[in-house]
Amino acid sequence: MAQSYSARSRAIEPFHVMALLARANELQASGRDVIHLEIGEPDFTTAAPIVEAGQAALAAGHTRYTAARGLPALREAIAGFYHQRYALDIDPQRILITPGGSGALLLASSLLVDPGKHWLLADPGYPCNRHFLRLVEGGAQLVPVGPEVNYQLTADLVERYWDNDTVGALVASPANPTGTVLDRSELAGLSAATRAHGGHLVVDEIYHGLTYGLDAASVLEVDDHAFVLNSFSKYFGMTGWRLGWLVAPPEAVGDLEKLAQNLYISAPSMAQHAALACFEPQTLAILEERRAEFALRRDLLLPALRELGFGIAVEPQGAFYLYADISAFGGDAFAFCQHFLETEHVAFTPGLDFGRHLAGHHVRFAYTQSLPRLQEAVERIARGLRSWQG
Ligand SMILES: Cc1ncc(COP(=O)(O)O)c(C=O)c1O
Repeated sequence: MAQSYSARSRAIEPFHVMALLARANELQASGRDVIHLEIGEPDFTTAAPIVEAGQAALAAGHTRYTAARGLPALREAIAGFYHQRYALDIDPQRILITPGGSGALLLASSLLVDPGKHWLLADPGYPCNRHFLRLVEGGAQLVPVGPEVNYQLTADLVERYWDNDTVGALVASPANPTGTVLDRSELAGLSAATRAHGGHLVVDEIYHGLTYGLDAASVLEVDDHAFVLNSFSKYFGMTGWRLGWLVAPPEAVGDLEKLAQNLYISAPSMAQHAALACFEPQTLAILEERRAEFALRRDLLLPALRELGFGIAVEPQGAFYLYADISAFGGDAFAFCQHFLETEHVAFTPGLDFGRHLAGHHVRFAYTQSLPRLQEAVERIARGLRSWQG
């Protein structure tokens, strides 16, 4: 008899791009030069001062569990960072260190969602959000968004889609896959709209630091009771170290700590020690250089893709993604991605991975490659368009 696994695990979709990635790896193994624009992680390795701090932590024997909330010194350093970057005084007691932003999402969804309840999420959006909600027997109410609202939830949309089972809204600024940013007044509007219904506002600020020409506002500037997810993965370039944090209202911290103790005991100890070096001026100088490099990449790829006929209606201000409408070329986004991988060896992600709304007409490019590689990718894409028969 076939073994049966849980309905919640069956309900979770894999990343569709993985099939493409497997094929990309096959092509690479057979000697092809594949340009990877599908991967959502910085191509830079972790900055040297952080690596050195990690090595020193290992040599000093910091290999055991920490407190479930995380190292006090790291929580204080993060509070100091809020002061420096946003002029905010956040009590370190409100900060929990988590295994990646993913760990923070696990804590927030476990705390805030009962079975049958749901959060409003923008479609397109980061797919794992709805999967985490499903795991805790809740769900996502996907709200279709397009360029007219900057691909973000708005106070009006929250009002329109809120129903008796809605308990909150989750937004990301900058967002994945669109790179759009919510400004302070938009965040305040979302806060007021969710508060009016007695709901929770959760803001994913994982791409903070990676914004170009502006600094993203934190929701904590306008709503001291919002839940904020953040991570060392993207701006701090530590994807593989698995480290993030959650800022929660004071009254939620005890329950979150209990969940953390049970779900993962503590975030990785050596990663926490390494992350202490993130806030040193010499590290921040390296991270800012990288941010400038991402800006140059965006400024190369965005006009080049538009010139080729890709529809990118709003200029993305952050993260390292371009979400492009391919309607002008005809055909389905998955087949489109396959075509470019097979014929030109350029890999990018079909819209299907980010939701349902017009997903078949969109693809995401991650500019996580050097400028010369991006230039080469543009040339290959231009050539591939000539042989595409959508
Ligand atoms: C919007 C968003 N949130 C959360 C995450 C989770 O990242 P991590 O667990 O590495 O912090 C990602 C990763 O790509 C993301 O794009």
